[in-house]
Amino acid sequence: MTDDYGGKRQEPIRVLTSRWDVEDAHTLAGYERTGGYRTLRSVLDADPAHLRQQVKDSGLRGRGGAGFPTGVKWGFMPFDSGKPTYLVVNADEGEPGTFKDRELMERDPHQLLEGMAISGRALQSERGFIFLRGEYLWPGIRLSEAIAEAYEAGYLGAGIMGSDFDYDITLHYAAGAYICGEETALLNALEGRRGQPRLRPPFPAVAGVYAAPTAVNNVETIMNVPWIIERGVSWYKSIGTEKSPGPKVYCVSGEVQRPGNYEWPMGTPAKQIVEESCLGMLPDREMKFWAPGGSSTPLLTAEHYHDNITMDFESIQAAGSLMGTTAMMMYSNKTSVVDAVLNWTRFYEHESCGKCTPCREGVFWLSQILARILDGDGRQEDIDILTDITKGIFQRSFCALADGACSPIDSSLKYFRDEYEHLVEHGRLPDHVEPHAGPVTENSGHIRPNHRAPLYDPEPAKV
Ligand SMILES: Cc1cc2nc3c(=O)[nH]c(=O)nc-3n(C[C@H](O)[C@H](O)[C@H](O)COP(=O)(O)O)c2cc1C
Ligand code: SF4
Repeated sequence: MTDDYGGKRQEPIRVLTSRWDVEDAHTLAGYERTGGYRTLRSVLDADPAHLRQQVKDSGLRGRGGAGFPTGVKWGFMPFDSGKPTYLVVNADEGEPGTFKDRELMERDPHQLLEGMAISGRALQSERGFIFLRGEYLWPGIRLSEAIAEAYEAGYLGAGIMGSDFDYDITLHYAAGAYICGEETALLNALEGRRGQPRLRPPFPAVAGVYAAPTAVNNVETIMNVPWIIERGVSWYKSIGTEKSPGPKVYCVSGEVQRPGNYEWPMGTPAKQIVEESCLGMLPDREMKFWAPGGSSTPLLTAEHYHDNITMDFESIQAAGSLMGTTAMMMYSNKTSVVDAVLNWTRFYEHESCGKCTPCREGVFWLSQILARILDGDGRQEDIDILTDITKGIFQRSFCALADGACSPIDSSLKYFRDEYEHLVEHGRLPDHVEPHAGPVTENSGHIRPNHRAPLYDPEPAKV
């Protein structure tokens, strides 16, 4: 009998990924043949306020991490300030475990360009920027080619398709720093400044690029826009849940048989995605813990998985975690949670921009203590010190990077304190756990043991 996942079963969906099986979908010819740029043509004379209202009514929530309603965010922008308005697409994608935007841009770059031009019309804007993760060379090549094709065909530039709507897109390669995905650090970097977060308010909607009203939106968010405009608000709201509508691309990695990006409606049980799209966990491995939305979201356990918790903002929050980027990282009983957490902590330590003390100093000490525990040199009080430090960092730092660094530590202590205690007491992991058993995945931030920095040594180095 087919598992109905506690009555929460959903059907797979192909909207944002609908062209992924079309070989030449990344070219203009392939995109046009499959209906591309039809929606842009239909909105060239549309009333911008009406377009904004449709996006608001659809209930679309940002796909970059926080899930803020896109139409509401756009509504904060003043359109009569006398300044130009901008759209900045956040394609920095640096969160460990997250690789959805990359594949979306590689396979269907025109979908992003069309989404930007339609959003540009809605935002009364004449220029959009794509802030692309510096390491994403292949998506960058695909995007550059698509931009050139779109200009050539008159879908971008002055007087699009003979209308009075002008729209230009600038592709900006970032330098490869995770913090530059934070929207205000991104704006600084885009302006050629140091990539550190700005004090808010003012929010980017009021003072963003060049102090002008700016919408900063994730790649996947903007790719939803053509579908909402073309198929309508009620079609969009018929997918997913009431408060988390629409399709969603989930990037699943870790100890599953077939990792990758899979599109399902919002509100699909996590277990259904893993069992049906990824063919379940690797043989002989039982689910132990997982991050539902990337490495900065609190860990959940096998119990949550088997309870058929659904992937939507409300249900994941009720379970004590966050949807984040919907980067589901699945780990088995063979993997040490302390090891996984240390790898992520080292990533945050490396990526902290250093602007504020709790993050700069605190995350450094978290990784030192975690490494000490994992190496068998932990002390009983270290476990409480970890909690004290995360308390000192959480919501006391300038941006959400530091809170994200604390999430895996606090949640692993909540659910797997016994593993920490075993390490402290016996100086080694329980027998069934293999350190570093988890596979290294794209963007995993996984640092192999021989790349670990040495533990803090109070003795000055002898040269
Ligand atoms: C450290 C950090 C890194 C982030 N990286 C990204 C990113 O790579 N892509 C992204 O869309 N949002 C990222 N965000 C969230 C953005 O600040 C912002 O909320 C998002 O781009 C808004 O788009 P949305 O409303 O469409 O989700 C990051 C946030 C933080 C704190
Ligand atoms: S929390 Fe960390 S990353 Fe964010 S501003 Fe402070 S030091 Fe920089």
